Amino acid sequence: MIALTRPAILEFGGPSSGHPFALPCAALVVFVPAIASGSSNDAWPEPLRAMDDMLGGQLAMLAGDGEFTGQPGEVTLLHTRNATGARRIAFAGVGDPQTADADRFRRAAAVATRRLRAASVHEFSVLLPHDGSLAQAIAEGLLLADYRFTHYLADKGKASRITLVVAPASATSQQDSLQAVEAGIARGRAVGEATVFARDLCNHPGNVLTPRVFADVAIELAREHGMRVEVFDEEALSGMNMGGLIGVAAGSREPPRLVVLEYSPGDCKSEPPVVLVGKTVTFDSGGISLKAHLDMDHMKADMTGGAAVLGALRAAARLGLQQRIVGIFAVVENMPGGGATRPGDILHMASGTTVEVLNTDAEGRLILADALHHARSYGPQCVIDVATLTGASAMVFGPVFTGMFSTSQTHAQAMQVAGQFCGEPVWPMPLAAEYRDMLKGTVADLRNIAGPLGAMPIAAAFLQHFTDGLPWLHLDIYNTCWNTTDHPLLPVGPTGSGTRLLTQFLIDHARRPAASAS
Ligand code: BES
Ligand code: ZN
Ligand code: ZN
Repeated sequence: MIALTRPAILEFGGPSSGHPFALPCAALVVFVPAIASGSSNDAWPEPLRAMDDMLGGQLAMLAGDGEFTGQPGEVTLLHTRNATGARRIAFAGVGDPQTADADRFRRAAAVATRRLRAASVHEFSVLLPHDGSLAQAIAEGLLLADYRFTHYLADKGKASRITLVVAPASATSQQDSLQAVEAGIARGRAVGEATVFARDLCNHPGNVLTPRVFADVAIELAREHGMRVEVFDEEALSGMNMGGLIGVAAGSREPPRLVVLEYSPGDCKSEPPVVLVGKTVTFDSGGISLKAHLDMDHMKADMTGGAAVLGALRAAARLGLQQRIVGIFAVVENMPGGGATRPGDILHMASGTTVEVLNTDAEGRLILADALHHARSYGPQCVIDVATLTGASAMVFGPVFTGMFSTSQTHAQAMQVAGQFCGEPVWPMPLAAEYRDMLKGTVADLRNIAGPLGAMPIAAAFLQHFTDGLPWLHLDIYNTCWNTTDHPLLPVGPTGSGTRLLTQFLIDHARRPAASAS
């Protein structure tokens, strides 16, 4: 079994007994709004003014010099010189309170975590607002910023230990709010830890995390969380006529796997499930159409879709979401061995469709075709596939938005709402018969590519062929799967993208009253 990173430990300390500053800790993170430039601290909102008074007006001095503004991205770390229980206070700016949304708080929490880590402070406290959604976002930011993949390094570093507190609540009306904050922390912890888990799977290299090892990870997860798991090996796949999976794996010494994980809590056992399908290519060399570019090592993260689905299932189980969810993983390694599929070869897919493989590097759609076909047997209320599918996604969106193709307006809207909240925004893309027509074959029913233009909607059109009218969303996450410049929420390397998005979608979906869930 592969080693997994221990995420930062988040504990809820409840309401502080006195003033939060009195809390004995190495550092306390406090979120602050933007202040008007040149204003004296008399004009500042409470409790910021009172806090500054406790620190002898240090913030006001810094503000006078333009060094403290409360703008997003700013962290002002002050030593209290034992004026309070906390040795240091980190003031993290969230900007204009009118526009400070969850993502602002998530980022502010991340910047503060990075700053404290740089100062070798690994145990600290965070003062949360009395708001469940913001508490969730903050918990996510703390966990994501603390992540480091150190398994193969001599110096493993250590995970932070973070205590979350809220200001004292005297009135009973605050009790609900306290519960909401606690529930928010639980959601944030589940989302953050799921992403850390997905990042680990993508970080472990192709020689370690093979399709068989991925299947073992899924089996272990199922065992831990009481989920049903089924692993189809090569023999079973050939019995199911899964020519896509078998054809892509043919050049590798590693046999393919189709893994199915089912989470069906008590009351939901017989409801139509949400089916999540993940492209899980443990390494994509391109096959015989070998990739030429310099960053081929990034292709160990060509399993980000599968990692995100596994992470989301783990989060759903930890939160006890009331929603039946099936995860389907198409797991292969794409290599140029002697037995590899060649350009021009024709594959028989599980659906009965034949496909001429004109480029073996367009392998994601071949394995997803079989997995999407398999999804239909679960009578799903919707199918969502997540895949590092096209280089074109990076040309279109850079590392920011995720392109979404859909045949269900309701689910697409819900995904957009989830994306907006979780900081992985999605943007709708077109499905059209014209793109499907471009894939019509001459010697087989379909061909797997159709020229260099329109590569992203063409790939989606190929997948659509195998969804056969089901409510379906396709998320192309190639452009967000690998981060090249450091960002407070994302280290350089695999990002585990899609995990937050899917998990938030499931959280929102499960929260809806059963009657309106469609
Ligand atoms: N996993 C890759 C995505 C990718 C694209 C990685 C570009 C690195 C660079 C996917 O399997 C792939 O290779 N897609 C090709 C498809 C093409 C051959 C039609 C692409 O988008 O370039
Ligand atoms: Zn490829
Ligand atoms: Zn690929």
